[in-house]
Amino acid sequence: MSQEMPGSAAIAARAGSGGTHADAAAGQAPSDQPARQGDAFENLLHEDRRFPPSEEFAARAVVTGADYAEADADRPAFWARQARELLTWDQDFTQALDWSTPPFAKWFVGGKVNAAYNALDRHVENGLGDRVAIYFEGEPGDTRTYTYAQLTDEVKKAANAFESLGVAKGDRVAVYLPMIPEAVITLLACARIGAVHSVVFGGFSADALRSRIEDAEAKLVVTADGTYRRGKPSALKPAVDDALARDGHTVRNVIVVKRNGQGVDWHEGRDHWWEDTVGAASTQHTAVGHDSEHPLFILYTSGTTGKPKGILHTTGGYLTQTAYTHRAVFDLHPETDVYWCTADVGWVTGHSYVTYAPLINGATQVMYEGTPDSPHQGRWWEIIEKYKVSILYTAPTAIRTFMKWGKDIPAKYDLASIRVLGSVGEPINPEAWMWYREVIGGNNAPIVDTWWQTETGAQMIAPLPGVTATKPGSAQTPLPGIAVDVVDEQGQSVPNGSGGYLVIREPWPAMLRGIWGDPQRFKDTYWSRFENMYFAGDGAKKDDDGDIWLLGRVDDVMNISGHRLSTTEIESALVSHPAVAEAAVVGAADTTTGQAIVAFVILRGDAVDTGDATVQELRNHVGHEIGPIAKPKTILIVPELPKTRSGKIMRRLLKDVAEGRDVGDATTLADNTVMQQIAASLKK
Ligand code: PRX
Repeated sequence: MSQEMPGSAAIAARAGSGGTHADAAAGQAPSDQPARQGDAFENLLHEDRRFPPSEEFAARAVVTGADYAEADADRPAFWARQARELLTWDQDFTQALDWSTPPFAKWFVGGKVNAAYNALDRHVENGLGDRVAIYFEGEPGDTRTYTYAQLTDEVKKAANAFESLGVAKGDRVAVYLPMIPEAVITLLACARIGAVHSVVFGGFSADALRSRIEDAEAKLVVTADGTYRRGKPSALKPAVDDALARDGHTVRNVIVVKRNGQGVDWHEGRDHWWEDTVGAASTQHTAVGHDSEHPLFILYTSGTTGKPKGILHTTGGYLTQTAYTHRAVFDLHPETDVYWCTADVGWVTGHSYVTYAPLINGATQVMYEGTPDSPHQGRWWEIIEKYKVSILYTAPTAIRTFMKWGKDIPAKYDLASIRVLGSVGEPINPEAWMWYREVIGGNNAPIVDTWWQTETGAQMIAPLPGVTATKPGSAQTPLPGIAVDVVDEQGQSVPNGSGGYLVIREPWPAMLRGIWGDPQRFKDTYWSRFENMYFAGDGAKKDDDGDIWLLGRVDDVMNISGHRLSTTEIESALVSHPAVAEAAVVGAADTTTGQAIVAFVILRGDAVDTGDATVQELRNHVGHEIGPIAKPKTILIVPELPKTRSGKIMRRLLKDVAEGRDVGDATTLADNTVMQQIAASLKK
């Protein structure tokens, strides 16, 4: 993995993509970019606009600035207080943090806690059983409402059903579901019985599903016949059948939710309809406390090599930090707020801020199955008006898409209920930030740009909406109890006004506890670049006020519409096609999706280049290997790839081509005519 300093090209990519003085898009530092600190950092990310909270907002805020001081004085004690206040423990812990064997942390040592009990039963016991937990809005327009009492019953039934199929504490359950309430029910049922869920995003292919099922050695798969996508039924079950077609896996049972009614192939003995198993199960189920460090879930995410990493999260620390941040960063008033996070449960945001934190905090939330343009481009705003959503949490790529569609569309709806707006997944450029504030937030709702990762489990850098004067484009300050820094190549903290690498200096409660089955890879990936610091893989800058600006990845990870994909993973998929000899993939700046996948491909000598047909075939092949989200936007067939004398592909030059720039310094190429050959072949 190459991890050079995010240099001027990365900053220029951010600064150049939108037009305003501080405009920023998801720039990615080219991985083979030599370190050039300082030259372009100084003035490009300068932003004078500030939006302090209104007095009224600040006066009612659930968290004040006092949390920063308290956490600074004693970080573990601060988190211990949060753990005891936000969660109900079956057995209290004896030690907040055990960091005696870094990088393996233990939080809330000796404590026992049940995630599902905390998300459900205790609210019912506290008289909140009639409060709405989930307003579900299906893509075709069907709706369902679950109160806390009803959701508790459903989760108890699912827990009984899973146990009756032989799933026990510690077993892994693969989940391949659309955005329907059964997804949340499944995850909480697993947590209840101590089974470890491993959700695979429904947009991933059968192959991707198979490798994740095999890596986690899942015993049960929970899926659906299908879902709806832009008004049409879309299948899920065939991918599960495909993934399980080969022997050698550990899956004994498959539970199938009937969602869109399309026909499915049935494997007698293995397959069970949800309505027959879960539907028939008892609503009596007692939750027992699991050890604070008991594994809660695995979630696969792309790294810099071909094989996705199974990020492991455990119970007590994860629940504490997700609950704290959800309450503090969104200023949650659970009695009155209606919260809507648009993330799919297939990603970490759908775990932390749909499944766990909102329910732990007793919030009422909206869940929507479909796409923003189905059946019309005002669907989201219609949903906000209908349910009086007060907190919206979404990704910059969605905001930029709405900007393209125009402000007349949201203007047709009453969005006055909105009081906090969240952003996550990629850098939000100041132009999109301002649009979000003005058009969606009525110039009134604070925007919280939240930086975090699958690995961090919960938000790490974000303003506190009742405390911080927000600044367009910057995630600003580490949250109370979080020690984030920006360091140079040597690991020294950089002064304000300078850029470098984003690191985390102290353990945090929701931190990943490892990579499933690969402790060495955990150490190598995150803890070897700098001594005693977690290396996040992102470039960042501290501005003159010390506020943090995220500059995109400094490794070979791309961010497409807020989804993480590795260049290597897509290259491997391309070269697995018989016609492909070699492939190089780059993420090129894209005004809507942040980055777009561009692939440069050398065909084998005996392969016939049929132009568009070849390109289409290769795109489909990647879709088949990984999933539709990984299909390159552009595939360019080239005669050669630019390589250094040591054989390393110079992605920086390919990125120049992909972004339509003049090719930069190519003097280190083994064959310096290669770029001319590529240019000539592209002209053709
Ligand atoms: O590059 C950062 C970007 O998304 C990466 C993490 O991706 P993932 O694990 O899929 O989790 C996404 C949802 C938490 C980070 O390394 N990223 C995430 N949030 C932001 C961001 N970049 C800039 N600003 C953010 N707010």
